[in-house]
Amino acid sequence: KLLTVSLLGVALAAGTAQARDYDHVRFGVDVPYEPMEYRTPDGELTGFDIDLGNALCAEMGITCEWIEQEWDGIIPGLLARNYDAIMSSMTINDERRQTLLFSDPYITIPGAWFAPAGSDVEEINEETLAGKSIGVQRGTTFDSYVTDNYGRVANVSRYSTADDMVLDLQAQRLDLVFLEFIVGQATLLDNHSGEFEVVGEMVTEPEEYFGEGFGIAFRPRDEALAQRFNEALATLKEDGTYDEIYQRYFGE
Ligand code: ARG
Repeated sequence: KLLTVSLLGVALAAGTAQARDYDHVRFGVDVPYEPMEYRTPDGELTGFDIDLGNALCAEMGITCEWIEQEWDGIIPGLLARNYDAIMSSMTINDERRQTLLFSDPYITIPGAWFAPAGSDVEEINEETLAGKSIGVQRGTTFDSYVTDNYGRVANVSRYSTADDMVLDLQAQRLDLVFLEFIVGQATLLDNHSGEFEVVGEMVTEPEEYFGEGFGIAFRPRDEALAQRFNEALATLKEDGTYDEIYQRYFGE
């Protein structure tokens, strides 16, 4: 009889482990990516993703934790269970959908090219980029797009962190960088008194690279968890919390 009871216990525990009902969620995030995820001068983790992620957890009545991970290992880290979700300005696209499950999109941000002011590159195409040094963050949609489209004509440098890439543009070791517009704006336009400029148009296409906005990524089996996040996101959009966080980072 005792044996039956303990076997039942094991079976129940195994069942729970399969469709885990999270009361604590660990988010993987690549920092810094200002204003989406970065540290204040006194070391506090902040940004649009951080505030929205924390607000979603509060709405769901769960606790959450942020685990820093460099971008090019961020998907493997999720699949290895180092954390339970990725909330790190990750673009939803079909290629990633093959291994990840995404929440509904929570924001859409265009990409942009940045160069030193007065750059001779005035628009983006195979001719203007020929022989240029282009910086991208390794493993991003920007990396894939540049590699596939301009990899033969330009010198593509891939950086582990967006920060190192921006520093190399500032040090004139690169002609151009390609990243999210708002991140380039925060790191290259604000407080640099006209030293850098945007080249060409804002980039929202092609969809196979730049996708459908940013989503929270989950392991494919965590459908129930993704569903809870989608519901919480809808609530925060209705009750004004989402707008408040949006204004905090993108107001005026
Ligand atoms: N949106 C781009 C992508 O999904 C870049 C995101 C990089 N995020 C970061 N926190 N460094 O590939």
